Amino acid sequence: MEYRFSMLANKLKSSMIRELLKYASVPGAVSFGGGTPDPETFPRHELAELAREVIEKEYKYTLQYATTEGDPELIKQILILLKRVYNLDGLLPENVLITVGSQQALELVGKVLLDPGDYVIVGDPEYLGALSAFRMRDARFLVVKFEKDGPDLNQVEDHLKRAQRENELSRVKFIYVVSNFQNPSGITTSLEKRKNLVELAEKYNVLIVEDDPYGVLRFRGEQLPSIMNFGGTDRVILLNTFSKILCPGLRIGVVVADRQIVRKMVLAKQGTDLCSPSLTMRLTARYLERYDVLEQIKPAIELYRKKKETMIEALKEEFSDVTDAQWTDPDGGLFVWTTLPDVDTMEMFKYAEQRKVFYIPGEAFKPYEEPSSSMRMSFCLPSFEQIREGVRRLKQAYLDYIEAKGLRCR
Ligand SMILES: Cc1ncc(COP(=O)(O)O)c(C=O)c1O
Repeated sequence: MEYRFSMLANKLKSSMIRELLKYASVPGAVSFGGGTPDPETFPRHELAELAREVIEKEYKYTLQYATTEGDPELIKQILILLKRVYNLDGLLPENVLITVGSQQALELVGKVLLDPGDYVIVGDPEYLGALSAFRMRDARFLVVKFEKDGPDLNQVEDHLKRAQRENELSRVKFIYVVSNFQNPSGITTSLEKRKNLVELAEKYNVLIVEDDPYGVLRFRGEQLPSIMNFGGTDRVILLNTFSKILCPGLRIGVVVADRQIVRKMVLAKQGTDLCSPSLTMRLTARYLERYDVLEQIKPAIELYRKKKETMIEALKEEFSDVTDAQWTDPDGGLFVWTTLPDVDTMEMFKYAEQRKVFYIPGEAFKPYEEPSSSMRMSFCLPSFEQIREGVRRLKQAYLDYIEAKGLRCR
């Protein structure tokens, strides 16, 4: 049967990550691929007890449709948390929308802001899920290099200036930035750059979409104010999620924005799923009421810190003889970004696969398809020993690769 799919459906491709990681679970493999938190950090006993309670005692809410905006009890708890985490004052329930993970928020942002051909300023590298959500709207990307302290602001301004010269500024809808421990690079946008981004956004009248799933997972250094602290809801849409600080299975994402934007996103969400699941919204609300999620996450942060250090030590041990090999040393989050000279990490993947070690080639995070000499390495799931062994195998795979390509170890 030849189905007459839409143009959009015909453009959809299977995610590179899915394809690449198909074999990552073979026995004996070490995977630095998935960006999923360690299940041992999930508060399963507490959630199980609360789940029973909210189903039995609050079934009229938890087993029923909810409003599209989200559970008012959860929004109440989220406003408290926003104050604690970001010191954001003056927010009202109308500024908040609960989504099915922040991935849905990215999709809704695309739906309410982007027409085909509109521009979004994104990083190189950039979070793949955001790129896919914006591609679904046929957006065009204005790409800026991600430097050690965040997006290259000269390039941001160059894009904006050019758009202004070409009378296209109104089509540049927003700057997208993962402000803390970016997925995939682990890089945090500096305080200076946060302020300057807001200045640029104001000067050229564009919005900023600040995506911050990892900010709370800081294991070193001082927390920085969010971009929203400088730009407010007029200028910034802040996306957050409970996926990394509680658990992803609940699928609870949060949008904080001006009420007009929230209103439009609510209307768009009605055509998507009517509402987020009442059960997991209320479960999360009661969890936040009863437990201090910021306290509860501390052992997990400590675990991630140690795993990150193990990975950095292993990289130093194995790759310090490779001139120009570089890796980021993030202050939080789940990812290290490693760059190897002269390597196409997509090509190297098959050598890594033979050595039973898996990573995500940097190409997956390119706004436009092009080879990359970097790779994303997640340290949260493998054990300490697997991290050390995985990095040893990675070195072997690198040596196999350069030998096969006739390159010399630099
Ligand atoms: C930067 C970023 N944004 C959004 C998401 C989506 O998270 P979720 O849909 O689980 O809330 C992720 C997940 O890894 C992410 O890394």
